[in-house]
Amino acid sequence: MIETAKNPIKHKTAGQFEETRFEKIHNVIFNDSDEASICVAQEIAALIREKQSQGKSCVLGLATGSSPIKVYEELVRLHKEEGLSFKNVTTFNLDEYYPMEKSNIQSYHYFMHEHLFNHVDILPENVNIPDGTIPSEDIRDYCLSYEAKIKDAGGLDFQLLGIGRTGHIGFNEPGSHYNSGTRAITLHHITRVDAASAFLGINNVPRKAITMGIATVKSAKRIVLLGWGEHKASVVKETIEGSVSSQVPATYLQSHPNTTFVLDKEAGSMLTRNKTPWLVSSCEWTKELTSKAVVWLSEQTKKSILSLTDKDYNDNGMSGLLAEKGSAYDLNIAMFNKLQHTITGWPGGKPNADDTYRPERATPAKKRVIIFSPHPDDDVISMGGTFDRLVEQGHEVHIAYQTSGNIAVTDEEALKFAEVASSIDPNNKQAKEIIQHISEKKENTIDSPEVRQLKGTIRRKESYAATRYVGLEDKNVHFLNLPFYETGTIKKNKLSKADIDIMCNLIEEIKPHQIYAAGDLADPHGTHRVCLDAVFESLKILKKAPYMKDCWLWLYRGAWHEWDMHEIEMAVPMSPDQVLKKRRAIFYHQSQKDNVMFQGDDAREFWMRAEERNRETAKRYHALGLADYAAMEAFVRYEY
Ligand code: F6R
Repeated sequence: MIETAKNPIKHKTAGQFEETRFEKIHNVIFNDSDEASICVAQEIAALIREKQSQGKSCVLGLATGSSPIKVYEELVRLHKEEGLSFKNVTTFNLDEYYPMEKSNIQSYHYFMHEHLFNHVDILPENVNIPDGTIPSEDIRDYCLSYEAKIKDAGGLDFQLLGIGRTGHIGFNEPGSHYNSGTRAITLHHITRVDAASAFLGINNVPRKAITMGIATVKSAKRIVLLGWGEHKASVVKETIEGSVSSQVPATYLQSHPNTTFVLDKEAGSMLTRNKTPWLVSSCEWTKELTSKAVVWLSEQTKKSILSLTDKDYNDNGMSGLLAEKGSAYDLNIAMFNKLQHTITGWPGGKPNADDTYRPERATPAKKRVIIFSPHPDDDVISMGGTFDRLVEQGHEVHIAYQTSGNIAVTDEEALKFAEVASSIDPNNKQAKEIIQHISEKKENTIDSPEVRQLKGTIRRKESYAATRYVGLEDKNVHFLNLPFYETGTIKKNKLSKADIDIMCNLIEEIKPHQIYAAGDLADPHGTHRVCLDAVFESLKILKKAPYMKDCWLWLYRGAWHEWDMHEIEMAVPMSPDQVLKKRRAIFYHQSQKDNVMFQGDDAREFWMRAEERNRETAKRYHALGLADYAAMEAFVRYEY
C-alpha cells in the first residue's frame, strides 16, 4: 500500500499480513520522497509538541546526507509558518567525518546548520554533533562522553536514519558489532565513492569518521529510516527481507521493536511484494503486471517466452493468471507479439508503412525532433545509435544540452586548454588569469566565473565534434545553459521560471513531433532528475498548444541503468558497425574520458557502460526468444 501525507505512517508489525510475510521490518512506501518526508516531519513535530505539553524535553537523533533534506525543510516550514518551537529540543547527530573542520562546507556540522539549526529556535547548547577536530588520542574519551551525554539527556526519543549502499546506518560500516557504541571508524570504499561528488573527487573524501554505534542507535525509543531512489532498492530489500548480519549493519534494526522504514516507490521496488507480487498473494492482473510476470517467468526458468508451459506458470505462483487469461499458449503468443512490436529500426516512424503495430507513427514522414540531453554527452551515451538513425533517416533533429556540464571538467583539463591558448597568444590576459587561478586554487574552493566559462566551452566544443560526426549541422545544436545548474558547486539551485522559459522557448520554436528526454533517475547527483522535471514542467505549460497534440515524449536511459524489459515500448537495434560509431561519438567527449568525475557506483567509463548495457538489452530480448541483435537502445513513451 502506498501511504499519503494525509494518511500518517501507521504502526503495523512487519509480516502481519500475507503480502509482507517476507518482511522483518515494518515499512511504508510513498509515491514520492517529498510526500514521505512531509509525513516524517509531521511525526517529529507531533512528538516535539507532545513533549512540550508535558513540560519535557524532546531528544532527537539526527542524520545528514541527501535523504533527510526535505524532512528538515518541512520542519523549518513548520517552525516559520505554524509556530513549531524547538526550545525543548536536544539533538544528537549520528556522525561526522574525521578529521573535519566545523566551517568546512562538507562537514556535517555545516550541513546541519545550513539545513536546520540556523532556521529554527533551538538553543545552541542543545545541539550535539560529533566533533571532527578532536585530537586522535582524545577520541576514545570523547566518544564515551558523547554516549554519556545522550544518557544524561534522557536517551533518544526518536532517531532519524538514512541507509548507505553498504547497509550502513550512521557510519556503522559492514563488520560493525551489534553492541557497538560511539567510536571512530574507517569508511567503506563504496561510502567514499558515494561521497565523492560532494567532495569534488574521491581523493578529497576523508577516510575516517566518528559515528554513534549500533547499540546507541538501537537505544532510541522510535527509529525512522528514510530510503529514496533505485540505488537504495537492493540494500533496502536485503535489510528488510534478509537475515541479520554484521555485513549489512542495518539488518540489526530487525530486532528493534519500533522501527519504520519510510521509502519511495523506487527504493521499495525490489521488495518481494512489489517485484514479484504473485509470489506473496493473489494479484489483480493488470496488463503491466502480466507483462512483468511473463518476462520474469521466462528469465527465471531460462526458457524463451514461447516455450513456457502451463506447469511453469502454476509452479511459480501464477496459476491465477492462467485461470484468468486462458492457456499458457495464448499468454505466450500475446506477450511475444507485444515485445516483437517494440523493436524498430525506424525510431522516427517508417514512411509509407502500416504503423498499427509499430512504436512510432508513419506520418509525417519527416519529423522534427528535439533530443534533450542533461549534460553535453548524454545524447550520444544514452541514445547515440538512435540519434544516428534519426539523422540518417532524414528527420530534422535538434540536440538541446540542458546544462553546461562545466563542473565535471577537471582543473587539469582546463589548465591544458588555458596553456594552449597562452602559448598561441602569450598576451592573452584571460588565459594567464585562468592559469594563475587554477594553480593557486585551494582544495574544495569554487571556480572563478572565467574558469567555469572555460570548462563549459571545453564541453561545448567536444559536443560539436560529436554532433558533427553524427552528421548534424551546428545550427541544430542548442546549448541551453539552464541557470539552476550554474552555482559553481555540486549543490544546485531549484528550478525557476528562467529555466522553464528557456525550455519552452526552444520547444515553441521547433514545434517537435518527438521529444527525447533522459529518464535516468538514478543519476547520483540529481541533475538528470531536475532536467527531467524541467521537461515535464515545460510540457505542462505548452500542453494546450495545437502543435503539441502531435508531439510524443520518449524517455531514454543508459548512463546508469536500463528500463525493465516489460516497460520498454521502443527498442532500436544497432549493428556492430553502429555500436562502433556510437563509441567514437562518445570518445569526442574527451574531458569525460579516463577521469570520470561523477561516475557513481560504477567504475567503468561511460562508453563501456553504455555498450555493455545496450548489449545486455539485446541479449535479454534474444533470451526471451526474439531476434539476436548486437545491441539495442530502449525507450519508454511518456503520456504527459
Ligand atoms: C548520515 C549518515 C549516513 C547516511 C547514509 C545515506 O548522517 O549517517 O548513514 O544516512 O550514508 O546517505 P544519503 O542520504 O546521502 O543517501
